Order: sequence, then C-alpha cells, then structure tokens
Amino acid sequence: MSNKAARNLFIFGSLFFFVIFLGLTYDTMGKLDGRAPEITEQINAGKMVWHKYDCIGCHTIFGNGSYFAPDLTKTTLNKPKSYLRQFLMDPKSANPNASMPKLGIRAEEADDLIAFLDWTSKVDTNGWPPKPILAAAGGVAGKELTEGQKVYQSHGCSACHTINGIGGTTGPDLTRVGAKHDRAWLVGHFKDPAAFVKNSAMPKVEAPETDIEKLTDYMLTLK
Ligand code: HEC
Ligand code: HEC
Repeated sequence: MSNKAARNLFIFGSLFFFVIFLGLTYDTMGKLDGRAPEITEQINAGKMVWHKYDCIGCHTIFGNGSYFAPDLTKTTLNKPKSYLRQFLMDPKSANPNASMPKLGIRAEEADDLIAFLDWTSKVDTNGWPPKPILAAAGGVAGKELTEGQKVYQSHGCSACHTINGIGGTTGPDLTRVGAKHDRAWLVGHFKDPAAFVKNSAMPKVEAPETDIEKLTDYMLTLK
C-alpha cells in the first residue's frame, strides 16, 4: 500500500467510526429520560433517610456500596411493602432470623425509604447490577453441581465465603475447610454458629437435616 492510500484509509476509517459513535450516543441520550420515573418529594426524603442511617455501610444499591448485606436496587419487586415497613422499623419482628440491627427508623422514615426503594426498583438499569455467576459461586464453573453445592448456592453462602477465589470475604475462605473441621463440628456449627465460635457473625443455617448433611459432605471435600 502506498503512503497516500494508508493515509486515506486512516482518515476515512476514523471518520466512519466517529460518525457511528455520534449516532449511538445520540440514540442513548434520547432514551435516558424514559429510563427512570419522576422523582417526587417523598422519594427525595427517602434518599435522605438512606444517608442518615448509612444503609450503604452494609448494602449496595445500583451495585455501589458494601458487600455485607444484599443489594437493594430491586427490593420492592420481590418484597411486599407492608413486610418491608415492619422489617425496616424492627427487622426481627418481621423475620426472627434477621441479622440486620434495629436502627431506630420511625414509621414515616420507613415510608419515605420504601418510596425511594420503589423508585430504584422501577429504574431501567439494563440488568445492572449483574447477578453473581451462580455456577462459579459454587466453586465449580462449567461442571454439573453436586447436591451439596446446590445447597451452598441456594443459601447464598458465597455472599460471605470464598471457595477457590470466588465469593465474599465477610466470613473465612472455605477452600480448605474440610481439613480444618470434622463432621460433628460442621453440623453443629451450621445449626448454631455462636455455640461453636463466640460472637459468630454467621447466621444459623435454617435447612432440613438432609440439606445440612449434603452441605457437610461438600465441606469435607474441600481440602
Ligand atoms: C449493620 C449492617 C446493616 C445496615 C446498616 C443496614 N442493613 Fe439492611 N440488612 C442487613 C443484613 C445483614 C440483611 C440481610 C437479612 C438479615 O439477615 O437481616 C439486611 C436486609 C435488608 C432488607 C431485606 C429484608 C428482606 O427480608 O429481604 C432491606 C429492605 C434492608 N436491609 C434495608 C435497609 C435499609 C433501608 C437500611 C438503612 C436504613 C439498612 N438496611 C441498613 C444489614 C444492614
Ligand atoms: C452473613 C455472612 C455469612 C453467611 C451468609 C454464611 N456464613 Fe459461614 N461464616 C461467617 C463468619 C463471619 C464465620 C466466622 C465465624 C464462625 O466460624 O462462626 C463463618 C464461618 C463458617 C465456617 C467455619 C470456617 C472456619 O474456617 O472455621 C463454615 C464451614 C461456614 N461458615 C460455612 C458456611 C456455609 C456452608 C454457609 C451457607 C449455608 C455460610 N457459612 C453462610 C459468615 C457467614
């Protein structure tokens, strides 16, 4: 290719893709307004309550925040508002196993928060935040899951624990936990972590005996 041809290719190639880039930007900007509902006074007030109690110190929203507690972006899609209201004011009264502390939220603050969470739930986030890659979170990407790995997944253990580099860091890494504890310890600890580890922050595993056994079998393979 001559120098001139190379220069023309460079100039027209760049122009061509710049025009495509402008077109796509224009297209996206035109759609943005339709992606979130109108923000009302109450939604605004709810966001202030969100900051006042530092919910983001434990939770994520739109994928931002801390990984101690679940993402709240789509909360009102899965939970009834009456339940949320009670949970926010007194988590244990709504769910006896809740580990979220009672923060002293008043009734009208709870209503404002729910308005805010209802707004975030309705924002078209284009699938963000992404769901964790569940198979990978079982520590076994690409393979058929064992019974124990299925229980591990369905209980969301990977929110707090890592196996083979995948998962959360609130709890210890479980990659070699099978070499550390025997069956009796594991079963007992699942049923009542605090009875085995003083002040344990791990919630009790509420599951049928057969699932506890499957989970324990899985843990014992991790060596
Ligand atoms: C100290 C950590 C912490 C703080 C601060 C916190 N949460 Fe939570 N929250 C949790 C945990 C842990 C859970 C998981 C469920 C459970 O075990 O309580 C949770 C669960 C929830 C749920 C889901 C309830 C359900 O049953 O699905 C909602 C909604 C929620 N929190 C809202 C909030 C809001 C709003 C704030 C701020 C006002 C907040 N949280 C502050 C730890 C926290
Ligand atoms: C909210 C976070 C959280 C969740 C969810 C959680 N754990 Fe834990 N886990 C912890 C913490 C914190 C510890 C450390 C204290 C203790 O040993 O009790 C722990 C400890 C453990 C231990 C002992 C590890 C060691 O090195 O001694 C095992 C085994 C374990 N968890 C398995 C599980 C399984 C299986 C699940 C799902 C059914 C699960 N955990 C769910 C937080 C969690």
